[in-house]
Amino acid sequence: MRILLIPGDGIGQEVVLAAARVLGRLGLDISFDEAPAGFDCFQACGEALPSRTLELARGASAVLFGACASPLGEVAGYASPILALRRELRLFANLRPIQSLPGPFSRPGIDLLIVRENSEGLYSGRERREGDTAVAERVITREASERIARVACEQALRRASQRASPATLTVVHKANVLRVSDGLFRQSVLAVARQYPELRLTELLIDTAAMRLVQSPESFDVMVTTNLFGDILSDEASALIGGLGVAPSANLGEGTPVFEPVHGAAPDIAGRGIANPVGAMLSGVMVLEHFGEGASASKLRWAIRATLESGISTPDLGGSAGTEEFTQAVCRSLAG
Ligand code: NAI
Ligand code: MG
Repeated sequence: MRILLIPGDGIGQEVVLAAARVLGRLGLDISFDEAPAGFDCFQACGEALPSRTLELARGASAVLFGACASPLGEVAGYASPILALRRELRLFANLRPIQSLPGPFSRPGIDLLIVRENSEGLYSGRERREGDTAVAERVITREASERIARVACEQALRRASQRASPATLTVVHKANVLRVSDGLFRQSVLAVARQYPELRLTELLIDTAAMRLVQSPESFDVMVTTNLFGDILSDEASALIGGLGVAPSANLGEGTPVFEPVHGAAPDIAGRGIANPVGAMLSGVMVLEHFGEGASASKLRWAIRATLESGISTPDLGGSAGTEEFTQAVCRSLAG
């Protein structure tokens, strides 16, 4: 397996290298390459996603991405490299699992998966100014909606077969207001989901889903939704298990899959050696699962959980360990 590391900006640098270290301790045939992308890269060489990086990504088995910083205002010539990677590699599905962790920072009993449409919606890049009016086009197509629905249904069935209990798919939308765009999303997803009779199918409006996620997260299994709603819901869901530092994700589609922690570049703590590498490490677990290395995936997941259970954690989880100390503890668990 050839994994391309794209650490990116800020704490991306810290957590991706930590994740690569624990992946390297599993005795698997993994080779690592590293390539630049991000805002620092843009400032240094004028490109946020250099063509050489993209070429290496295309040739790799998987990409492990850290984070990139995106300035709030417009910077001429700069566009987020993670959005570009998702587009170039046609990674239309973003899987964001949220699972309870051992520790007082996490609520118990949660095991859900947010399946986020990754290619269109409000992130389709169609924004413009018309004088003092700004317009963003929210593009929803039947094709992309059906495609993400199939991914969600397959994921629901896969998860159900692993735990021998029924699969539940919740379709999340705002079709009562966005009648045309979310109307089409809802209709397309429900039509695909009905082809899977073994699925329990429910639907929720996004605002109700956001509330229910805090109130009774244990009641959810797989949720499927549009791009922006999925982005927001997954950050919200991460707060139930310890916050952004522990949430992993996978971008899947036609090209090389890209795995990344859900968090950003965290400029407030970058360079201080206290970034939580759990989200990046669990993204590594997702790489292993994706390539059928189930035993190694379980071993790494267990070592991360054992480390947290022993009370070692970074400050965002209430602990006092740095990234290095936490990573060493996971390596010890793997060896022991
Ligand atoms: P952020 O996720 O970088 O940070 C939010 C808060 O969570 C901060 O207080 C940060 O310290 C904390 N945090 C995040 N990850 C952590 C970790 N692993 N360990 C400990 N604490 C952690 O989001 P924010 O501040 O909204 O954005 C910062 C920059 O990151 C922006 O430029 C934004 O555009 C970018 N960003 C990039 C993403 C990506 O590359 N996929 C995703 C989200 C934001
Ligand atoms: Mg986000």
